[in-house]
Amino acid sequence: MQVSSFGVVGSGSMGNGIAQVAAQAGYEVTVFDINENQLNKAWTTIEKSLTKLQEKGKLKEAPQAILARLKKTTRLEDLKGCQFVVEAASENREIKFKLFRDLDAILPAGTIIATNTSSISVTEIASKTKRPDCVAGMHFMNPVPLMTLVEGIRGLQTSDACFKIVRTVAEAMGKVFVEAKDAPGFVVNRILLPMINEGFFALAEGLASAKDIDTGLKLGCNFPMGPLELADFVGIDICFAVCEVLHRDLGDSKYRPAPLMRKYVEAGWLGRKTGRGVYVY
Ligand code: 3HC
Repeated sequence: MQVSSFGVVGSGSMGNGIAQVAAQAGYEVTVFDINENQLNKAWTTIEKSLTKLQEKGKLKEAPQAILARLKKTTRLEDLKGCQFVVEAASENREIKFKLFRDLDAILPAGTIIATNTSSISVTEIASKTKRPDCVAGMHFMNPVPLMTLVEGIRGLQTSDACFKIVRTVAEAMGKVFVEAKDAPGFVVNRILLPMINEGFFALAEGLASAKDIDTGLKLGCNFPMGPLELADFVGIDICFAVCEVLHRDLGDSKYRPAPLMRKYVEAGWLGRKTGRGVYVY
């Protein structure tokens, strides 16, 4: 199947990044969000990102030509004509399950629906549809326009044909595709989140200041960001949700979320997006 029209569900930081990169790759993209303000914010983010990429000579076309391939909508039915849809809504089981039921009712049989979930079972999401063979995980990394990886996740029911198309689309978007099993956290978050979590334990135990924990990992391991800085960047609520899934679904106490991380979530100190997390912005 030749994909030309692309749908994105959700226009938060992942959704708008996915939409932008899909449009850069030449797809006609429709972005759905229930929240019109969020859609407008997403457009501003995309415009800024495209301008920055153009300044650095990283675009093959002018930003306006790429923006012309992007449409926004608050009606899910408008995704009907899309041949390939990526869901990037909130990391909440019930929200995703409902969206998959609704998308299944709207999209023609055979249309692939990929989920950008960072931790929820792709197999369970697929089971909410009548086309579980056409559902797969497509885990992009934040910030999507700059990060080269897509982690592909094959649910128990995902067909070979579907997975091949998911890989082809990811590669057409300029991404390197790695394949992971459908297990809690897949591969990247299974390893990354325990490190971030350990950063919060280290902070709570007073092993070092937040700045020194981050500097230690940045300079000691050549990471672009330290674990606490990265938690603020990704969103502490998202990190906490993934830690809870790892803990619950793997059933091993070594994955228990750090109580300090929970406190930050309870305080609404979620990182850059709320102006305060481990650091103040
Ligand atoms: N689009 C275009 N340009 C962007 C951009 C975007 N979305 N975001 C940042 N930039 C630009 C900046 O404006 C800056 O431009 P300048 O050089 O003209 O000032 C340039 O990119 C470089 O940015 P910075 O100087 O601020 O910082 P870095 O050189 O460190 O690069 C980074 C930024 C790529 C974010 C780097 O810090 C990094 O790789 N951080 C780690 C990110 C990471 O680990 N992501 C994965 C998170 S886990 C995940 O997503 C999974 C989920 O399920 C939890």
